[in-house]
Amino acid sequence: MFNKEIYVKRREELKKSVKSGIVLLLGNGEAAMNYAGNDYTFRQDSSFIYYVGLDTPNLAYILDVEQNKEYLLGDELTIDDVIWMGNLPSLKERAAEAGIDRILPFAELATIIGNGLKAKRMIHYLKPYRYRNQLILSEILEKKVDSIASGFSLELTQAIIRMRLIKSAEELTELEDAGKMGYAMHIVAMKMCQPGVSEREIAGTMEGLAISVGNRVSFPTILSMNGQTLHNHDHSGILKTGRLMLCDAGAENLNYYASDFTRTTAVGGEYSERQKNIHNIVLKALNDSIAMAKPGITYKSVHRNAYRIIFEGLRDLGLVTGDTEAALEAGVPALFMPHGLGHAMGLDVHDMENLGETLVGYDEETKRDTLFGYRSLRFGKRLEPGHVLTVEPGVYFIPQLIEKWEAEKINADFIRFDKLKDFYDFGGIRLEDDIVITSQGCRPVYEKRLPVTVEDITLISSH
Ligand code: GLY
Repeated sequence: MFNKEIYVKRREELKKSVKSGIVLLLGNGEAAMNYAGNDYTFRQDSSFIYYVGLDTPNLAYILDVEQNKEYLLGDELTIDDVIWMGNLPSLKERAAEAGIDRILPFAELATIIGNGLKAKRMIHYLKPYRYRNQLILSEILEKKVDSIASGFSLELTQAIIRMRLIKSAEELTELEDAGKMGYAMHIVAMKMCQPGVSEREIAGTMEGLAISVGNRVSFPTILSMNGQTLHNHDHSGILKTGRLMLCDAGAENLNYYASDFTRTTAVGGEYSERQKNIHNIVLKALNDSIAMAKPGITYKSVHRNAYRIIFEGLRDLGLVTGDTEAALEAGVPALFMPHGLGHAMGLDVHDMENLGETLVGYDEETKRDTLFGYRSLRFGKRLEPGHVLTVEPGVYFIPQLIEKWEAEKINADFIRFDKLKDFYDFGGIRLEDDIVITSQGCRPVYEKRLPVTVEDITLISSH
């Protein structure tokens, strides 16, 4: 947790952005894994953490804009809580850490919101993503559960997005810390990438490392020889010489900030010519994207440029053919990279995705595309200093997708389907770095870059 002045200042700024009404930020509760009391590790809501800083379950924050009063709502520990969980700080002490003077029992939430509704005041809340919070909102707002999601406050959501997207100096320090942990996790994975080692052992070792120095992994680790499956969480494989291991993973540090890196390592560090060629296309897309990212440029244009590099690289290898601009217009590169170039990152690995991906990543000026591949870009708008983004181009050979395009003659003039058959056992290569946009361009969030060339990855993994 930062010192309380930071949270007080953030809440002051939020108050200026919301004209009137009652702002409600609901914290998360415990979530039962298989029975109440045997819970998933607690994860606080990120907006609650951003404005209140407290990672204790079952809290809510209320800001009455007109009365200029704020409250922390929660329940004091019972003797049973103390017996089972220890003598944790009281609610009053926790509120003081966040710079909040007024505390109320959680049950008062219904009264405050009920009085607000009677007085026809606007109740600003964020779209819930957990059923518990959806049910609480349904009860206190006296609305049907299925109307809760659509009734969220756009004014509050946009105010929060504006603030959270631009990372402050203290947030960048936290992100760097998460980056350092992610870096260590990936070095271990590269070293362990040897024939006969199980994917599960590597994924487990990485996760153990994240837990040993921070909160947890920032998302379930993606690690597989079958890297053509973009979010492959199946770790049942045993590494084999000749295959590639795609590893996309990061850490969440003790203050809830995320890192997210991807490297693809040849098992035992032995890359075939074909693997090197594809790796170098992805590496060029990564490096050129980083070189291009600066204030004033839309990330949508950086994504399109990555698609250009991938198309031209694959054309040099004889896998596609035709004019670059025509291929980009037709969305040809999406066959090989059916995902976006990157996303915002911060307290969430996909920052604020719960508030609405398009609200976070697009605006009046930069609209989301509808074409396959382009439409998957989570963040397309103009870059500003303080934006933190991932840059993660990839080339994948997904047999089912290739066969679908071939059968339906999609972009058939551009694609050498006959040549692609040889790549059905290739898997995929993704390379991912995390950057922060500066006044002039961008820099890595964590100063040390993971080995990224074939030569440097080989040095680590072929010992
Ligand atoms: N690194 C995983 C993702 O961006 O979804």
